[in-house]
Amino acid sequence: MMAEKLDLNTLVEDHRVHRRIYTEPQVFALEMERIFESGWVFLGHDSEVAAAGDFKQVRFGSQPAIMTRDEDGAIQVLMNRCMHRGATICQEERGNARHFRCWYHGWTYNGRGELVGLPYPGGYGKNFDRSRFSLIRAAKVANYRGLVFASLSADVEELPDYLGKARYYIDLFMDLSPQGAVEARAGTHKYGYDGNWKFQMENGVDGYHANFVHQAFFEIQGKRLGRRVMKLFNETSPLESKDLGHGHSLLDTAPRRSSPRLVSNILRGQVPAEIGDAYVQSLVARNGEARAAEILAASNVNLAVFPNLLIIGIQLRNVIPISFNRTEVFLTPTTLCGVHEAINVARLRAHEAFYGPAGGGAPDDVEMFNRCQAGLAVKGAEWLELSRGLERETVGEDGVIAAHLTDEVPQRAFYKRWREIMCGVATAARPSVTLAAAGS
Ligand code: FES
Repeated sequence: MMAEKLDLNTLVEDHRVHRRIYTEPQVFALEMERIFESGWVFLGHDSEVAAAGDFKQVRFGSQPAIMTRDEDGAIQVLMNRCMHRGATICQEERGNARHFRCWYHGWTYNGRGELVGLPYPGGYGKNFDRSRFSLIRAAKVANYRGLVFASLSADVEELPDYLGKARYYIDLFMDLSPQGAVEARAGTHKYGYDGNWKFQMENGVDGYHANFVHQAFFEIQGKRLGRRVMKLFNETSPLESKDLGHGHSLLDTAPRRSSPRLVSNILRGQVPAEIGDAYVQSLVARNGEARAAEILAASNVNLAVFPNLLIIGIQLRNVIPISFNRTEVFLTPTTLCGVHEAINVARLRAHEAFYGPAGGGAPDDVEMFNRCQAGLAVKGAEWLELSRGLERETVGEDGVIAAHLTDEVPQRAFYKRWREIMCGVATAARPSVTLAAAGS
């Protein structure tokens, strides 16, 4: 087979990306190495491992790991690989365990990953040092307002710096609770698709597709509410898309709701009026009227945190690359701490209506991802166009790039970061990689 030199730099331009970033296994392998094994990756919410011994399986791209809370209350991120002969030591998706025992030969590890059980130890020499066989741990683990991130490399900036301007929107999301905290214990639903992981990251902050992919849902919703939902996503919409830097981006829905009163009205019909009003008042009491209005105005955010977290509506969406053409997505709705149960029930029902396994919206997106991957097998049309709104972008004093909601600002933001990491455009130069020539 012939091999060709391919410069990754040639695959991403300011306004378009090459189809090979979705179709080349070697590009995928480099993404795992340079993005998912070298930088911050979102793993889950700390409430998912609330008690000592709670665990859930997580991934750094292709590498399996376990997020668990040890007996001292610290969150540990351990690689799911026995230090004897390599078997995964945890098979359950989540649960509670004092120890992780490998089923192959019984080596057993505690919640800090230390080897505490060694069957038939007499077979090992007297110099055998158990401490050398602790599970591999993530180099860094950090928690921002309950969101747990980890990095396999210690050479990363501090998490708050990494999150940058996305922190403002994460704060708004958490501050919807009068206690300033959410929980992610209402369950997780999962789906997979035969397409590249980046399709999901692009789509979660894509304001252009909604009126087409989700037309049927919006028409039904419009009849129910007695107003046109689709106008929020057409050319006259006052909403904006934003590049927050670091590859993070946003569909900013804030102009839609400008006062606590409005949100109270939105809740009305879903919860008794007195419950909605009491909720708004609890936010005002904690935050003051202006801040409460700001929090409530952002209560339907679409935020992408590079590389694999989407915060959409009430959910945390974890995007998990499996191969260049296979992706799994874990979608976990949150509940607000400190509110009347009816508020959380209303949030969950509204979430399910669009995003649930039988929801009217999200399953349609998945079909689009499958179609994109299938379509990109066509050779001769090599580029995907991301230029929408390029000429009407504005740059704020804070450096945030903004344009119309339907513009492809978030997608350009994602690939700006992708290019920096993969190609070393803004950092050290990276070498070309050798790829097998297509069709050779
Ligand atoms: Fe785990 Fe042998 S591979 S105990």
